[in-house]
Amino acid sequence: MESVLPHDVPSGPPAGLPDPAVLASLANAFFAALPGQSAQAGGVPGVAGTLPLTAPVTSEIGNPAPAGSPLAGPGGTGTGVPGAALPQGHLPGGNLLPSAPTQVLSLGNRAPALAPHAVAQNGLPDSVVTVAPALDPRFGGATLGVPEGHGAQRPSVGGAPLSSASSAASASPASASPFYFVGEAEQARGSHVASPEIVVPGWQEVSGQAFGLPAVDQPLAGQRFPYDRPGASPSVPAGTATSPAGGSHYFLDLSEASRGPAAADDVPHAGLSAHPPFDVNAIRRDFPILQERVNGRQLVWFDNAATTHKPQAVIDRLAYFYAHENSNIHRAAHALAGRATDAYEAARSKVQRFIGAASPEEIVFVRGTTEAINLIAKTWGVKHVGEGDEIIVSHLEHHANIVPWQQLAAQTGAKLRVIPVDDNGQVLLDEYRRLLNDRTRIVSVTQVSNALGTVVPVKEIVELAHRAGAKALVDGAQSVSHMRVDVQALDADFFVFSGHKLFGPTGIGVVYGKRAILEDMPPWQGGGNMIADVTFERTVFQPPPNRFEAGTGNIADAVGLGAAIDYVLRVGIENIARYEHDLLAYATSVLQPVPGVRLIGTARDKASVLSFVLKGYETEEVGQALNEEGIAVRSGHHCAQPILRRFGVEATVRPSLAFYNTCDEVDALVSVVRRLSSRR
Ligand code: ALA
Repeated sequence: MESVLPHDVPSGPPAGLPDPAVLASLANAFFAALPGQSAQAGGVPGVAGTLPLTAPVTSEIGNPAPAGSPLAGPGGTGTGVPGAALPQGHLPGGNLLPSAPTQVLSLGNRAPALAPHAVAQNGLPDSVVTVAPALDPRFGGATLGVPEGHGAQRPSVGGAPLSSASSAASASPASASPFYFVGEAEQARGSHVASPEIVVPGWQEVSGQAFGLPAVDQPLAGQRFPYDRPGASPSVPAGTATSPAGGSHYFLDLSEASRGPAAADDVPHAGLSAHPPFDVNAIRRDFPILQERVNGRQLVWFDNAATTHKPQAVIDRLAYFYAHENSNIHRAAHALAGRATDAYEAARSKVQRFIGAASPEEIVFVRGTTEAINLIAKTWGVKHVGEGDEIIVSHLEHHANIVPWQQLAAQTGAKLRVIPVDDNGQVLLDEYRRLLNDRTRIVSVTQVSNALGTVVPVKEIVELAHRAGAKALVDGAQSVSHMRVDVQALDADFFVFSGHKLFGPTGIGVVYGKRAILEDMPPWQGGGNMIADVTFERTVFQPPPNRFEAGTGNIADAVGLGAAIDYVLRVGIENIARYEHDLLAYATSVLQPVPGVRLIGTARDKASVLSFVLKGYETEEVGQALNEEGIAVRSGHHCAQPILRRFGVEATVRPSLAFYNTCDEVDALVSVVRRLSSRR
């Protein structure tokens, strides 16, 4: 497949297209003739007066800027619906018409501002801007044709050995750790217990193919260690695997319909590399860091619950942003402001479709899941939770879904109540039902436990919360990369996640909130971008989502998150879920029987995570021994101390899987654990 790289872009109009300058003048004439301009321009009563600082502007107020305010023109300050991105891969300069009809209608009284097509000094074609961008608070000029992924043509990555540390380190004491950041807690070791909930074949008979997976061509009994073979490729070609049920190619293409809320027609696919729907070898080639060498071995990344790696498409998209689009957004009447604003708002729309939200206005960009939950607790929570009210979380929660609610409870006099879990780490729904009452204001639960991997029945939890008159927040930090999420089907009031756990950049995350709820919420931080008008007497706020995006946000990384979503959709989230399910079952089947291994978290429904302790070893020692072989896992409390203590431990070793992991990598991990086990 042909990929579209920035340097592939020709400098003139493609063959068969009219000259951009001609199109520009045609479009100018078109815009100049738009009816209803004055009606769009600012016909909202002035807001001079003494509104309290906290008074929000509702979305019904289309343009609160007083006449004469710089905010009033030429683009007006209407709430604006962000223009949908043009299909990606268009050539810069080829999209002379606005990117969506809504954008045409929202032009209001803007002076047409088509710029002549030009070639920049760097030889790249400048882009024609269809409107003076960005005075409208939600979008700027025309969307540029931006290549969204270039996996097929990424530069090759040569691995540089980092060190050749001794392989004898497996027995070194935890205190000798060279890593200042490990050793979060002493491990309180529990006895090894068999897990009654996960049924796996006897490990001697197990191979990857038994789970429909590629990559293992010999039974484990043969002790094949893939890293003994120079240049070992961790997979058989796509299409050779069979389904566990005996069908063929179960993780090959699923129907377009299975894409769910992100319908195929809505999602730009341009530029992604041309691999089959699910081919783990091809997938791995899209992630340059997987070629990295650590301690003389090829990196095995089993720390995906902490953060995921980035496909070349995301890396390229970030580079493209900084090379061609970088600007602040929603302000300034220049071309780059338009490009950056369009790219940022296109990313918002991608998130919207990806999680099935009803509109882009329901998507607020934040730094990550932690900031997302803090935002909700400190805005919605402060407004709606009072003395004697109750907040419910589950025992599984990450500290980020405990501490903000504790802080809110301390501030307001509310109580924090906890849904218990059973010995497999599954929430006890009957206990939850008993906790709900008419003082319950919000139920905030994770969809997947970061420490145990338990998949929580959030749909049922949300429904029960609503029946009790409470709101429900779903923490999707550990779920969005592993399963399809549809916030409307879940009926969640809030849904939050981090971009970096979805193969996107760090420092970008999302609050989804139902529109009416967001509109009712006061802002959190104050400053630029979130205001409609400011005098020394009062401030009028923007409607959501801008109301919650004070200051200059993480523009480039939002765009990078959009590229990550494109990538995930290209692979297919159902394909990912099925592959990972089988990989987890395989990993469980080979790790659990190792003498001295105790799995922590044995729920029937799990995703990605395999937490364990090994008798006779500190978790940190196991982590170090794995690191000696180039295998990265997290050992520690995983920012989820309450749930680990529920199982009598302070720390676990936590391999966590992603769709680029393979059976060979699992075998490598288990080989190290078995070696350690045999020594004590
Ligand atoms: N929440 C991340 C983890 O589970 C950091 O490791």
